[in-house]
Amino acid sequence: MEIAAGIASKIGEYLVEATVHQVRYLFCFNSIVDDLKNEEINLKLSEDRIKQEVEREKRNTKEPEKDVEKWLMDVYNVVAEVQKLKEDIQVNKSTFLNGWCPNLGRRYQLSRKAAKKTLIMAKLQDRGKFDKVAHLKPLQGIQISAPRDFMSFAATKLGSDQIIEALKDEMTMMIGMYATGGAGKTTLANMIGNEVQEQKIFDEVVKAVVSQNPNLINIQDQLAASLGLMFEEKSSLEERAKRLYLRFTDTDKRILIILDDVWAKLDLATIGIPFDSDYKRCKILITTRRQHACISMGCQLRFPLNTLNEEEGLALLKRHAGVNDGDFSMNDVAKEVASECKGLPLAIVAVGSALKGKGINEWKQCRKN
Ligand SMILES: Nc1ncnc2c1ncn2[C@@H]1O[C@H](COP(=O)(O)OP(=O)(O)O)[C@@H](O)[C@H]1O
Ligand SMILES: [Mg+2]
Repeated sequence: MEIAAGIASKIGEYLVEATVHQVRYLFCFNSIVDDLKNEEINLKLSEDRIKQEVEREKRNTKEPEKDVEKWLMDVYNVVAEVQKLKEDIQVNKSTFLNGWCPNLGRRYQLSRKAAKKTLIMAKLQDRGKFDKVAHLKPLQGIQISAPRDFMSFAATKLGSDQIIEALKDEMTMMIGMYATGGAGKTTLANMIGNEVQEQKIFDEVVKAVVSQNPNLINIQDQLAASLGLMFEEKSSLEERAKRLYLRFTDTDKRILIILDDVWAKLDLATIGIPFDSDYKRCKILITTRRQHACISMGCQLRFPLNTLNEEEGLALLKRHAGVNDGDFSMNDVAKEVASECKGLPLAIVAVGSALKGKGINEWKQCRKN
């Protein structure tokens, strides 16, 4: 009996509450419409602010967060609905003003709709408090630069064929390419990086130049930039290493890490580069002037990069000096100058560029006396 009475009184409360709302929809029409308009103004101000923030971030090569994009879309839709509702309300008001008896049923409906939309906009306003509106676009997939006038020589072809074949092997984890300075190691490593990505042997290729006095933080920065990874500001070498390691390993992607210009053993774990037999998706290609660096780093395979033969050296020299193949008067002296460069692309390119447009006498000065 008591339970029945309780239920009855609860139903009564609901009915009273519902009736209060209905009465409000009818008699507080104007203030409900004012609330709608105010909430719309507030929401549009938030929308403008978020849009401006997104535009600013886009200029910094960032892309909007998914929830921000959805919020902007929701705001766009609700603002369009409110616009339509305001037009309907205007029609209803003008009917009344023209001396017609207002249609109370229609007014009730509009009032109810307006109250609902006000509530939806208030909720959207609450959802629009974002910590950050955008994140940096990942840079992966961007081609590593190779010289515009790259030429394929016997040595580069052999080197790239051997290295790419070795990288396909499940068991290979680290490969070394060694040759004297200026032989074309960096150029070839870049070409290989592009090639393995094109051939879909790797999903991502990242690169860092190590150099004679390695700076581990700088190496981490280079790797992170190619991965589109952001470190927390002021994070330590160890924290950054953990984040890098996680980025390399917590993915299905096959990643080639090119470490260019290595001089001595580098502590990969300290940087955050995975190098263990359990984890086979990441492989490493190092380039070095010192064959011994390949051994101390633990490269399973080591490939020398040979210098150019006479014919190739001459072709590269002529190209950079702008000498035509038909210009036989230069042939002998060009051959001599090319052989002075000992088949090293760096020397050939430098001498060729310096001799561009120069006469035979300047060429003769570059020969061995
Ligand atoms: N295959 C090539 N085709 C054209 N130019 C090349 C080639 N290899 C090297 N070079 C030229 O030689 C220069 C030195 O090569 P690089 O790769 O930097 O040598 P390394 O890394 O062995 O010191 C490059 O800047 C480029 O101008
Ligand atoms: Mg180099």
